[in-house]
Amino acid sequence: YMVDKGNHRHFMEKEIHEQPEVISHTLAHYLDFANGTSKPLDLPFDFARIDRLAISACGTAYLSGLIGKYWFERFARLPVDIDIASEFRYREMPLSKNAAALFISQSGETADTLASLRYCRSQGLLIGAVVNVRESTIARESDVTLPTLAGPEIGVASTKAFTCQLSVLASLALKAAEARGTVSAAEAKAMVRQLAEAPRFASQVLKLDAQIEKVARELSHYKHVLYLGRDTNFPLAMEGALKLKEISYIHAEGYAAGELKHGPIALIDENMPVIVIAPHDRIFEKTVSNMQEVAARGGKIILITDAKGAAHSTVNTLETIVLPDVPEIIAPIVYALPIQMLAYFTAVFMGTDVDQPRNLAKSVTVE
Ligand code: G6P
Repeated sequence: YMVDKGNHRHFMEKEIHEQPEVISHTLAHYLDFANGTSKPLDLPFDFARIDRLAISACGTAYLSGLIGKYWFERFARLPVDIDIASEFRYREMPLSKNAAALFISQSGETADTLASLRYCRSQGLLIGAVVNVRESTIARESDVTLPTLAGPEIGVASTKAFTCQLSVLASLALKAAEARGTVSAAEAKAMVRQLAEAPRFASQVLKLDAQIEKVARELSHYKHVLYLGRDTNFPLAMEGALKLKEISYIHAEGYAAGELKHGPIALIDENMPVIVIAPHDRIFEKTVSNMQEVAARGGKIILITDAKGAAHSTVNTLETIVLPDVPEIIAPIVYALPIQMLAYFTAVFMGTDVDQPRNLAKSVTVE
């Protein structure tokens, strides 16, 4: 690749910092900011006519799809089946003839994702591919390519490709909502306006690096970390855990906060910090009760929230990272940054090979 690290220590750090710009490019590709609508797309299927969307992907791309599911179902009332590609390809699921399929892949070469795509094609489904590499096999074999405009991603742990995937999925969910008549023109306009703000908020979050680095120094002393979130912050909790384990080799799990009492609570003590991702949204109070359960067992909490959340949380935290107050639709994009930064700085403290972590590959082209 003709890409260098510029002033950054690692590609991952550079790619984290590129996010405001590449999110902005990606959104501009799909949204008409002047009219407050999605831009026309040459889709092979009609969002108004399909009854399901089947999404399949691996790793971080799978977690972006999981967030996409919340958006397609909430905004467009379109049911989504989402699978890990290696499960989808073998689980012989009955596919509705009125379904469309969506595959998400940074590289466009992941073997399991490609096999899932070919299976859907053999079943007669129309196929869209959200890919970062436009000349890739998955792009070539799909009916429509929906590019992420992240530019080449070198760090093995995906960062900017993830937030660009989210940008595409939010724009597609808006398009589906317009087609299915589940949002008014005024609501669509408001969504476009809110999405357009994501790059500015992402830049603000990058400025929290000193505080996040301090939290990372603390995290680097532990062997296990639990991430909790509800709604779209649940997939984000899994993404935070994935990033941390991939590059720092600290064992981490991401859980739906409501599942805490069904298992992970047994692990809580002062040796396992709990990272709670919780903007002050309509279910914030539910997450506060989960934090109380953690605190009551001596668990140390690192809360990632906004000013309102910080004011309304009644729990003592080890640290509270206060992000700007953001509209709900862009929260997953903005909140992705502090969890990436946290994993990055922790790995730097651990002295691991951040861009080329052991045993991992950027693109997994074998099963
Ligand atoms: C590997 C990478 C991950 C990536 C996953 C899926 O595991 O290390 O960062 O999320 O593959 O790759 P894809 O190219 O299909 O998005």
